[in-house]
Amino acid sequence: MNLEQQSREYREYLETYLQEHYQKLSGEPQKLLFEAMQYSLMAGGKRLRPIMTFEFCRMCGRDWKEAAPFAAAIEMIHTYSLIHDDLPCMDNDDYRRGRLTNHKVYGEGMAVLAGDALLTDAFGIAASAELPNPGDMATAIGVLSECAGSMGMVGGQVLDIMSAERELTEQEVLDIQNRKTGCLISAACALGVVAGGGSEEKYNAACQFAAGLGLAFQIRDDMLDVIGTQTELGKATGVDSDKNTFVKLFGLNKCEELVVSYTNYAIDALNTFEDTSFLNALAKSLTERRT
Ligand code: IPE
Ligand code: IPE
Ligand code: MG
Ligand code: MG
Ligand code: MG
Repeated sequence: MNLEQQSREYREYLETYLQEHYQKLSGEPQKLLFEAMQYSLMAGGKRLRPIMTFEFCRMCGRDWKEAAPFAAAIEMIHTYSLIHDDLPCMDNDDYRRGRLTNHKVYGEGMAVLAGDALLTDAFGIAASAELPNPGDMATAIGVLSECAGSMGMVGGQVLDIMSAERELTEQEVLDIQNRKTGCLISAACALGVVAGGGSEEKYNAACQFAAGLGLAFQIRDDMLDVIGTQTELGKATGVDSDKNTFVKLFGLNKCEELVVSYTNYAIDALNTFEDTSFLNALAKSLTERRT
């Protein structure tokens, strides 16, 4: 297993899948909408969530390509969350994935609608998956909805903007970050197991892995806002200093320790799977990520 090579294969497969989906629609009159959606979608994110969906499917013994509809749906929902997160009424950011933010290029109205369309289309694409247990589709759509919606990512974003004016407890910060970032990572891992036809034990292990990795990932994101550079990250840094970030709560040194301990918690959850070398290496590489 080569981390770089396997990640590239997953990433390229996802990008071709997304491109082919939107190519079919290029003759429609609302082509500016498709252009705005693809502007953010094809801007070269790390594709971490789809990579995890593919890998959990593979670890359950099924051809990982079968997980493409779920992987694409998660990346579309993630991209919509970024477009809306960057709006002037939210974090008001000018750069994302190394480009001007969506509203800077297409205007706020189109950016809101491009996000809406990515979210809605994601459910249609997810529903096109062919599952080993077709009865699992209703569960999968429910998981996607719960993780993305008011109880998940959107709920976390709401708590995040509501909390800007006051100091939060450690438990409150953990809850916000679990929702705003952890939930989509959780959906990515859980849907990989559903696509792979994995057991309930494997499903629960994937959720536990995601819980640890999601926290480690957001703590590192908060650290990079302080120690990263715009060139590496493709987004501005130093923009979250008023927020209740992990860095504000714990300081950089403690954050570094927490990233390692939550990553170890995530890795421990993988015991029920056989070939975990890829996820092990991926999780470890994320503790020191600069992008
Ligand atoms: C950024 O996510 C927003 C968070 C949830 C922390 P990523 O760091 O995965 O962004 P991309 O997809 O690589 O652009
Ligand atoms: C955003 O968190 C999480 C989302 C649900 C989009 P941040 O606001 O910290 O993400 P960045 O730093 O802008 O990528
Ligand atoms: Mg934000
Ligand atoms: Mg932001
Ligand atoms: Mg951030």
